[in-house]
Amino acid sequence: MEKLIVRGGNRLIGTVKTSGAKNAVLPIIAASILGETPSHLDEIPKLEDVRTICGVLKYLGVKIDDSKEHELTLDTSRISAYEAPYELVRTMRASFVVLGPLLARKGHARISQPGGCAIGSRPIDLHLKGFEALGAKISQDHGFVDAYAPNGLKGADIYLDFPSVGATENIMMAACLADGTTTLENPAEEPEIVDLANYLNQMGARVRGAGTDIIRIEGVKHMRGGEHTVIPDRIEAGTYMIATAMTHGDVIIENVLVEHQKPLLAKLREAGVLIEEDIDRIHVACPGELKGIHVKTLPYPGFPTDMQAQIMAMMTICNGRSSVMETVFENRFMHVVELNRMGANIVTSGARGALIEGPAHLTGCEVNATDLRAGAAMILAGLVAEGQTIIGNLHHIDRGYEDIVGKLQALGADIQRINVKE
Ligand code: UD1
Repeated sequence: MEKLIVRGGNRLIGTVKTSGAKNAVLPIIAASILGETPSHLDEIPKLEDVRTICGVLKYLGVKIDDSKEHELTLDTSRISAYEAPYELVRTMRASFVVLGPLLARKGHARISQPGGCAIGSRPIDLHLKGFEALGAKISQDHGFVDAYAPNGLKGADIYLDFPSVGATENIMMAACLADGTTTLENPAEEPEIVDLANYLNQMGARVRGAGTDIIRIEGVKHMRGGEHTVIPDRIEAGTYMIATAMTHGDVIIENVLVEHQKPLLAKLREAGVLIEEDIDRIHVACPGELKGIHVKTLPYPGFPTDMQAQIMAMMTICNGRSSVMETVFENRFMHVVELNRMGANIVTSGARGALIEGPAHLTGCEVNATDLRAGAAMILAGLVAEGQTIIGNLHHIDRGYEDIVGKLQALGADIQRINVKE
């Protein structure tokens, strides 16, 4: 079994480059199913989740060439299957985004129902309502979702009760090959939605308004493969910004799109962090003390729920009181227990609110990465804790951070990955 050993106390100094965005690349790889000719993708992060979604596409008959680092060529000329089994879907909920493009391309898609996960029950009702509105017959049996539209989908007006990222992506992709125009109201406005729409348009789709509160998709009869460079990962970049702030370091983060970082930058500035913005790089420094801040997670352009655990790790060492209100997921405080075991002073009120009194003197101990971003929060706490922090359950961290150990070591962190006997 592998573990991370972090010895706290080093300031992070230097330059780090952000990889391609996990949450953009997963739906983009799925979207390739819509194209009748091969696609070529660049800035592919080396992540476990990418390997998982490629596994799903291979199972469906897609030929994938991943011989070049950070690139993928997907030959989707033949899609031979319409079913994605449990073994492939269970490890990653995001596999469910293949349903939309597969249904559109084949007229039939059968995907194992994604289970719950650590951060909440995460239903798929909004995805299914959207497919039904487009004319698909949906049934759920033997743990599978079956979507059937042998004569193709029909454009429709769809209002999402909540701006779900996955539902927006799935419906947007399905609507690309529908007959007529689809209007999607109250969609997610995340940058990853815009990146997906840009790729779909490259492939011959007609998607307008992605990134706003109404998306219009004029259906087309055929789509071809596309060429696309994936946007930088705003969550990965944000994690390095917080690491810099917490260690009172001085780091330049390269390959970022500054406009995607606004909600985080505003909060870091409020906490006393110095930030200089350029178009594609951000300089973060924190010579002074950190002040308590108040954060409420919201759909984009609000503060991202995927940065909540990491900013809470920072709040533990801020001076004064901080608070977090988690409004997107109902159970995303798994890191609280672990941070408190390291000496933090966090009190939750219900499943959505947390008060953090700082600054705490964190001390290293053995902790677990309970989910992807909670795992990142453990590393961040370890970077400033006295002594040694040992982090287990690394598969969560490997899902979403490319070479986090190498990148932090290059900035001067004392972090190692070791093999331990069980
Ligand atoms: C995506 C991101 C994830 C991020 C989340 C919110 C990917 C691969 N993952 O997840 O990292 O934390 O957006 O920014 O892009 N909901 C429903 N019914 C549905 C769908 C969602 O009630 O049919 C609820 C969920 O339970 C949750 C909220 O909507 O409370 C947000 O979920 P959603 O935006 O769909 O997140 P994901 O797409 O799963």
